[in-house]
Order: sequence, then C-alpha cells, then structure tokens
Amino acid sequence: MKRMLIKNVLNSSAAVDRVRVNGWVRTRRDSKGFSFLEVNDGSCLKNLQVIVDEAIPAFSGLKDVATGAAVEIEGALVESPGAGQKWEVKASGVRLLGAADPETYPLQKKRHTDEFLRTIAHLRPRTNKYGALFRIRSESAFAVHRFFRDRGFFYLHSPIITGSDCEGAGEMFRVTTLPLCPPQSGEQGGPFTDDFFGKEASLTVSGQLEAELFACALGNVYTFGPTFRAENSNTPRHAAEFWMIEPEMAFADLNDNMDLAEDLVKAMTAHVVEHCRDDLELFAKFVEKQLMASLEAIVAEPYVRLPYADAVRILKSSGRSFEFPVDFGVDLQTEHERFLCEEHFKKPVIVYDYPREIKAFYMRLNEDGRTVAAMDLLVPRVGELVGGSQREERHEVLERRILDSGMKLDSYWWYLDLRRFGSVPHAGFGLGFERFLMMLTGVTNIRDVIPFPRTPKHLEF
Ligand code: 4AD
Ligand code: MG
Repeated sequence: MKRMLIKNVLNSSAAVDRVRVNGWVRTRRDSKGFSFLEVNDGSCLKNLQVIVDEAIPAFSGLKDVATGAAVEIEGALVESPGAGQKWEVKASGVRLLGAADPETYPLQKKRHTDEFLRTIAHLRPRTNKYGALFRIRSESAFAVHRFFRDRGFFYLHSPIITGSDCEGAGEMFRVTTLPLCPPQSGEQGGPFTDDFFGKEASLTVSGQLEAELFACALGNVYTFGPTFRAENSNTPRHAAEFWMIEPEMAFADLNDNMDLAEDLVKAMTAHVVEHCRDDLELFAKFVEKQLMASLEAIVAEPYVRLPYADAVRILKSSGRSFEFPVDFGVDLQTEHERFLCEEHFKKPVIVYDYPREIKAFYMRLNEDGRTVAAMDLLVPRVGELVGGSQREERHEVLERRILDSGMKLDSYWWYLDLRRFGSVPHAGFGLGFERFLMMLTGVTNIRDVIPFPRTPKHLEF
C-alpha cells in the first residue's frame, strides 16, 4: 500500500478502509484496552491520532514505541468521536521503524526554549514551531519564484565564488586551497599566484553586479541564493550566511524600484497568508499576538515613501533619546528604522535619497551631488528588509565613484564596460530572505529562521 501524507489523510472527505502513514511519534497515551499515538510526518502542523486496540497483535510491541520513534501505521480512517480532530486511524498494524530512547531523546513533550533548540538544530524541525517555520520558509521561496515568473523576470544563477567585492565593504570570506601559512609573494605575481584561481577569491556578498550584466541583456532578472558576509556583528539580524533575493531591471529608475519592492513584499506576504494559515496561526498564538493584523496591513496599505533628509528631521524632533544620535550624514540604525515604521508611521516605510558617503559606489549620484538614488524598505519588527538603488549608468561618474571609494578600476573593467556599450538607466535591490521570515512570523532572532545558522564562532551541523 502506498504511503499517504498525514496532511492529505486529515483533509479526506470520506472514511477510508485502509490507509498507510509513516511518521514520528509525538506522544503515546495508554488507557484501559487501548493506546493512543499522536503521529506527525512533517507534512502539516497537525498530528494524526492513532488508536491501537489491545486486540491487535502489534499492541504488545507498543511498549517500545515512545516519543520520537519512527513508525509505520496501517489501519482504517474513521470519524473521530473525540474533540479537536475530524479523523483518526484505527490501527490494524503498527511497525516500529526506528526506536528513540526516552531517557536520551531531547524533545520530550514540553516547551523548550529557542536557545536550547539551537543547540539541537538537527532535531528542532521535529517540533511544532520549527516544523511550521520551515514549511513557511519553503512556501515563501516558492512565492518569490512565482512573483517574478508572473512578471516576466528571468532567474539568474549568479556565482558564489567571486573575485570582486560588490559592496566594497571588505567583509568577504576568502576561498583558498593554499596551506594555512601561504607562501610569501613569489618572484612574479602576488601572494595568490599559487592559489587555485591564481588571484584572490571570496564568497560573494551579493549577486548584484552579475545581475546588472544580465538585466542589460535579458531586461528583467533576479537572483535568489546564498550570500556571505564576514561582518563580525553579533546581532539578532545578521548572519554570516544568508539568502538574498536580488531583482534587477533595465530601463527603470528609483520609483520603479520602490514599486517593485513594495509589490514583492506584499505578494510574498499575501501568498504565505493564503497558503500557510495553520502554520502562521501558531506564531500568532505563541510568538506575536498582533501578527495577523500586522500582516494584513502589510498586504493592504500603501507604504510611506520618505526622503532620508525628512527621516532625519522626524527622528531628531521625536523627543526620543536614541542610543545612536542621528544627524544628516549618519547611517540609520535599527532603533531609528524601527521607530519610523513601528511608532511614527505604524507601517512599512521606504527611505530614499541617502547621503552618498554612507552608500555603495554603484548607486546613482543625484543632481544635488550630495545624495544618491538609494532606497531602504523598513518594516515592523525588523527594520531594514530591503536595500537597493538606481545604478550609476554614466561611465565617468562611475569611474570617479569607484576611485573615491578606494577601489581599483581594473577589477571592475567588465562592470565599467556595461557603461560603454549601450548603457541604460537600471535599478534593483536586495531583499534579505531571513529578515522577511522574521517579519512574517514575529521571530526575533535570525538564528531561528534559517535551518543551520552561521554566526561568529558558531559552525555546528
Ligand atoms: O543592503 P544590502 O547590503 O544590499 C546589497 O547587498 C545590494 N547589493 C543589493 C542590491 O541592490 N542588489 O543587503 C540587502 C539586504 C538587506 O536589506 C538585509 O535585508 C539583508 O540583505 N542583509 C542581511 N541579512 C542577514 N544577515 C546579514 N548579515 C545581512 N546583510 C544584509
Ligand atoms: Mg543595506
């Protein structure tokens, strides 16, 4: 008999004479003449209740079927007399596939802290909360692809190993096959002559530069992949490895970019609200009480669009004493970002036209010469979710910006070439996928929305 997913079994429209399900036992309860098993196979939040009558031969083996054990159940799907579930299975057979020692299995039926569960990240997807989270994560990824496909964007696989620093911030992890102590620079060439690529190589911090190349050929593209940052900031919002979605549009300006960012966040949120109701409700119940109302607002209401200079003015006259004081020219901190969208406007805010000094070299210089056509989308619970800009498409201006940022022109010859051959206005942004999941679920630590977090001094699993 073919295995059925518990999700489909529980959605059955009629009783079924024979079904087979496989899963892990969440609890076993014994009463006179029966045992009850709660079985979960990860296909949905709900468990399947299984009744094992002492009359069936498998009953005697139940003593070894404890919380955490893997089982195969055969039986009849019947209407459940108990409250809380429509269907249950009356077992005709129970097979123990893999036992779990009750003395040492760490997930006994009680609430565990997120901190503890991080230490057992190999088992935490078997809990209700993390099962729900990773189903939501999967559905969110699907929503990304659906959104862009519906709009004629092409999915680009930008490289993970790179020779250039997109953000120019020097926060890159080096990729090397050299021994621990690299030989000092040989007679010809630098210290990387003998390295695998014959030059310094790193893990990418962004697929943007490559996305620009492809946008200026295919029109509209997006990347969606892992990115790596060696910033030594131990915050609840930064991971050393995270996933980023980076659309890039040719023939587009900053306004088009803001429209796209707003549409994307709304569409992804609406998709998950529609397709992951049960899982989201768990977060509304146990993590963030206002979650559903807040998500509805994120989908329904237009976002505020605010020049950076106005944002600074609002923050300065807020009467708040921030840990980091604000002034024109200072980068906004999470506390400022959250004040703007959680307290002042109470909805997502797009801040644009930042001072050139605090933004990357590729952002288009505005007419005022002081600001660049940058935009950050700030959302409740998270702060910066999206960072992007219109790109500098003028060759000489870009050259100057690269040099001013202390970078070498020859590493970017191909990026500059794009401005020599058929240059067009273009724009794009990066959306941090984990930060999106934090906004969506109310989870406050990035370590709890990624399967296996990588942060300073942590590389387990
Ligand atoms: O603002 P960022 O650094 O922008 C870029 O990398 C551009 N090249 C994107 C582009 O225009 N194509 O990063 C974009 C987003 C941030 O807004 C944030 O959501 C997320 O990526 N992000 C991080 N998420 C988790 N951990 C980190 N260390 C992150 N750094 C950035
Ligand atoms: Mg940013």
